[in-house]
Amino acid sequence: MLRTTTTALAAGLIAVATGAWADPSENDLVINGDLEITTHAEAPAYIEGLSEIYSGWRFREVDTQATQMDDFDNPAFLAVDAAQEAWDTVDGDAGKSCASCHGDAMESMAGVRATYPKWNADAEEVRTLAMQINACRTDNMEAAEYGYTSNDMTGMEALISVASRGMPVNVAIDGPVQSTWEQGKEMYYTRYGQLELSCANCHEDNYGNYIRADHLSQGQINGFPVYRLKNTKLNQVQDRFKGCIRDTRAETFKPGSPEFVALELYVASRGNGLDVEAPSVRN
Ligand code: HEC
Ligand code: HEC
Repeated sequence: MLRTTTTALAAGLIAVATGAWADPSENDLVINGDLEITTHAEAPAYIEGLSEIYSGWRFREVDTQATQMDDFDNPAFLAVDAAQEAWDTVDGDAGKSCASCHGDAMESMAGVRATYPKWNADAEEVRTLAMQINACRTDNMEAAEYGYTSNDMTGMEALISVASRGMPVNVAIDGPVQSTWEQGKEMYYTRYGQLELSCANCHEDNYGNYIRADHLSQGQINGFPVYRLKNTKLNQVQDRFKGCIRDTRAETFKPGSPEFVALELYVASRGNGLDVEAPSVRN
């Protein structure tokens, strides 16, 4: 298969890797021996640059893949357990826990993660899952917000995601979210930084290629929050965006900023059809 290499890539960052290309793995992701996860699907029609979509899991080494195939091996589950405790614990001036209103997380939150970011009609805004968690904390619990990319937040996102594992990502792109989606799409194709690279230059034009030792994926976010072996913690999706933009030597946006909310909506929609597999494991 022929892959394109942009001038900027050829000139710089990926030069070391020129010629090194490998298909995404053919392995199937089955968690705990029985939960089958769709990691490869036809691309949604509105993604012009891709015909097929792949989860980042397909681009990882076999031992990294294996760590995600059993919840006892997946280190993210320590954070999930802590979040389950937080879910059941009263916090804030209203004297409530998440459970006071939502009951059992695995029941009440089933399917929720698959639809975020989404429109909130009362607040008239696009909300990420993190924004919704904080809205519940401040408005419903009278408790302090979690830091946007804090361990408390990524743990809670992971817990809520577990309730949607194996369900297809199904983010709406039209109606009231359409202008935000367009904004995110424009960002995705904008070249940033001294290296003048867009998200698409790497994750659309060059997935399958190697950057240094890293097998470049499509940058899908169906696995977020992601446990990274590199920093041994759960990573929030917008922190990952920040890291990728910083790698182009550009000024980056702040997690929680309107720009990153728009980018998250757009990137999530590129994965419509892949299953939610969070919390996942990557290097
Ligand atoms: C006082 C009651 C109350 C408490 C406490 C509460 N919530 Fe909520 N939550 C709501 C209501 C009401 C909604 C909106 C319901 C809806 O969207 O149908 C909601 C919506 C949500 C949603 C979005 C569901 C969806 O379908 O989009 C999430 C996620 C959520 N809450 C998480 C939490 C978490 C996490 C906590 C604890 C940190 C929490 N909530 C605490 C009342 C509460
Ligand atoms: C210079 C090339 C480059 C650019 C430009 C770039 N990334 Fe990345 N990105 C990487 C590499 C390398 C990785 C790690 C390997 C992988 O997962 O693809 C990565 C990983 C990711 C991941 C994690 C995927 C997973 O499954 O864990 C996401 C999400 C992501 N990038 C999104 C973006 C977005 C959004 C942009 C644009 C703002 C962007 N990237 C720009 C190189 C790039």
